[in-house]
Amino acid sequence: MRTIEMNNGVVKMIDQRKLPRQFEIVECRDYGAVAHAIKDMTIRGAPAIGAAAAFGLALAALESKATTREALLRDLDVAEKILRATRPTAVNLMWALDRVMKQAQTQNLDASGLRDWVVAEAQRIAEEDVQINTAMAKNGAALINDGDTILHHCNTGPLATVDIGTALGCIIEAHRQGKKIHVLVDETRPRLQGARLTAWELMQYGVPMTLIADNAAGHYMRKGKVQKCFVGSDRVAANGDVANKVGTYKVAVVAHENGIPFYAVMPTSTIDMTLAHGDDIPIEERDAREVTHIDGVPIAPEGVHVGNPAFDVTPNKYITALVTERGVVRPPFGENLLKTMK
Ligand code: MRU
Repeated sequence: MRTIEMNNGVVKMIDQRKLPRQFEIVECRDYGAVAHAIKDMTIRGAPAIGAAAAFGLALAALESKATTREALLRDLDVAEKILRATRPTAVNLMWALDRVMKQAQTQNLDASGLRDWVVAEAQRIAEEDVQINTAMAKNGAALINDGDTILHHCNTGPLATVDIGTALGCIIEAHRQGKKIHVLVDETRPRLQGARLTAWELMQYGVPMTLIADNAAGHYMRKGKVQKCFVGSDRVAANGDVANKVGTYKVAVVAHENGIPFYAVMPTSTIDMTLAHGDDIPIEERDAREVTHIDGVPIAPEGVHVGNPAFDVTPNKYITALVTERGVVRPPFGENLLKTMK
């Protein structure tokens, strides 16, 4: 199945907290359950949480007892605020909510018609995500050569989107095209999206890979073992600065030092032209237990002070190109992102 789908008033998603040990599906029957699933990372990855937010609004529309269009819009507004507050960094979440809410205001429909429209719009967002990722995968795969070893951080595969993936989608597509590639998979502490999810996905697709500790990435780069780095993004500012899973910045700096091209892959819905630079991107701070515990087992002294930013910002000077569904964007990013987003 896809990472997330909605049928007959039920939103089903793959439980990403349980993989790779268990493959379980979580069913959400109200928008509160969707909001909870985004917050506790049952579903995660920028485009996937965008689709989840849209499906959350669809459930809110179905739950609402409103008999007038105005009352339904008010109920949607309440749900929208709760969904918006779930995670702050990935802009796809806000993008999807804005898209549904803004267009809902302009639909000349009664309550029942508007309810159907919200459900249909959420389905369109999910469907478009798959098409966009397919285009991005082709654009990114063209940058990968036969024989390349690619370093990858976090999880950007089918699970991080509705299907196909962003950076990992490009890598899987290059493999599908018959290119002989190898992937170095950063484990991605603290939540281990690389070890748990990316390794699992690449093994499903039969892509040759090696799982490495995050701290080993620099060693492989300095030894000349890495030809390219591919990562995703949770938000790109108008100047091309990229917010992505914490640790991305370190990978980019070491890649730059060693002359290794560094590509960030994202749909245009991840590009936030309202923010001038990456320092304006809100960075989520998550629970200390993600650092002090592994699978519920404490690994640090009780009461230790912890910092747990979930994302970091990579300045545009370390980025070779941004890969989108509309094409590959190269520096100067300010100028070229404006053209791409027109
Ligand atoms: O905290 P997560 O697991 O939601 O973070 C996900 C990432 O940082 C991904 O790399 C990002 O969403 C871009 S690829 C879809």
